[in-house]
Amino acid sequence: MKVLVLNGSPRPNGITASMISVFKEAAENKGHEVAVIDVCRKNIKGCLACEFCHNKGEGRCVQKDDMEEIHAHLKDTGMLVLASPIYYHGISGQLKCVIDRFYASLYPKAPESLKKAAMLLASGDPDMYTGARFSFDGDFLGYLGLEDGGFVTNHDENFMEKIRQMAETI
Ligand SMILES: Cc1cc2nc3c(=O)[nH]c(=O)nc-3n(C[C@H](O)[C@H](O)[C@H](O)COP(=O)(O)O)c2cc1C
Repeated sequence: MKVLVLNGSPRPNGITASMISVFKEAAENKGHEVAVIDVCRKNIKGCLACEFCHNKGEGRCVQKDDMEEIHAHLKDTGMLVLASPIYYHGISGQLKCVIDRFYASLYPKAPESLKKAAMLLASGDPDMYTGARFSFDGDFLGYLGLEDGGFVTNHDENFMEKIRQMAETI
């Protein structure tokens, strides 16, 4: 399966990055094709709410920036992994911009190939995940109807092992 991981952490050696590397290695060992995009290293603006994508654009966004790379992946990705640090009770702003821009390609419906979503979160304190979980459950599992591929935080017991198992059972 093709898997797209969106890394919302700007820290190359942070906890989110280590969670992703465990996930990637385990999934690739099982034969999956994993692409990781560091969204903080990209030029991705927020959604303009201009509705061009749902009218004249027919699914294309009016803004020409690095989001085009992500839209291209979304056409044939089977699983989406949203990985982020928690900033003020939510995912990072950089990843939130990407999710808002999903409006062009995942709203009102995800492409046929996209079946699953998972979330990896890192925070300083425990019990910081309600905001991110609400969006994951409501927008990705609920609205888009994607299968739950797992939800792991750095405050889960043996979280790296949990991520490994999650990647091995995609
Ligand atoms: C702008 C900012 C806001 C943060 N807000 C929170 C927060 O609300 N709750 C929390 O537990 N940690 C918060 N943190 C700490 C990070 O979530 C924590 O350091 C996390 O491990 C960073 O992930 P990373 O190592 O992958 O970059 C914040 C950090 C930054 C820089």
